[in-house]
Amino acid sequence: MVQFTLPKNSKITEGKTWPHPEKAKSEREYRIYRWNPEDGHNPRIDTYYVDTNDCGPMILDGLIWIKNNTDATLTFRRSCREGICGSCAMNIDGTNTLACTKAMSDIKGPVRIYPLPHMAVVKDLVPDLTNFYAQHASIEPWLQTTSPTPRKEWKQSHDDRAKLDGLYECILCACCSTSCPSYWWNSDRYLGPAALLQAQRWLVDSRDEATGERLDKLEDPFRLYRCHTIMNCAKACPKHLNPAKAIAEIKKTLVERQV
Ligand code: SF4
Ligand code: SF4
Ligand code: FES
Repeated sequence: MVQFTLPKNSKITEGKTWPHPEKAKSEREYRIYRWNPEDGHNPRIDTYYVDTNDCGPMILDGLIWIKNNTDATLTFRRSCREGICGSCAMNIDGTNTLACTKAMSDIKGPVRIYPLPHMAVVKDLVPDLTNFYAQHASIEPWLQTTSPTPRKEWKQSHDDRAKLDGLYECILCACCSTSCPSYWWNSDRYLGPAALLQAQRWLVDSRDEATGERLDKLEDPFRLYRCHTIMNCAKACPKHLNPAKAIAEIKKTLVERQV
């Protein structure tokens, strides 16, 4: 049987256990992936204790508490702290999700946090999303028209507007793409669920007039057809969207236009 092993410099080691907070009446254990490209050491798991009476209830609150009170070098992304910006996506308790909308009370035992899987790490919990954003840009996520621009606005009926529901809410957090096995192995050529959901958002927009060109660009064995309907993406999406369904709709549209 083939056995795979990580290269020596990627093996995760046991890191530092940081002191318990003084006078804490209630605390929570966080076990967090740490890696600094500048110190030449292997990745490690550090253990922290959060004073839960001194911070909010969400996983992100605990991370901010640690940064402010225990270890200022802990690095992670966050901005809105209300599930809108998508920056705080990470792997928490084995699932890709947003740290700001995941409650500590949802997790039993230590809170285990890693960066989003199968992405290069910039530092600690910060993944390199350069390719992910480039893939989003490649689907040209803006309104494209050939008709003369109306004097006021591009109008849309209520029914046509409703077709964007379940698509426009995507916050590009990358939880879906980084939970997709097809994306793990082919992210250089497969667009992945997030970019494809966005592609469908523009394909179904009644105001857009570049549908044919958009479909031509997607009709490719790798860009679109690496999706094997494994459905991890829909399970992971913290906004309860269904990228697998959007991908299936794109495939259906491609078949229909051949008839
Ligand atoms: S359904 Fe498609 S996009 Fe979603 S996880 Fe599976 S292979 Fe990836
Ligand atoms: S579809 Fe969901 S999981 Fe994927 S990027 Fe958009 S919001 Fe995040
Ligand atoms: S901080 Fe913006 S989504 Fe979590």
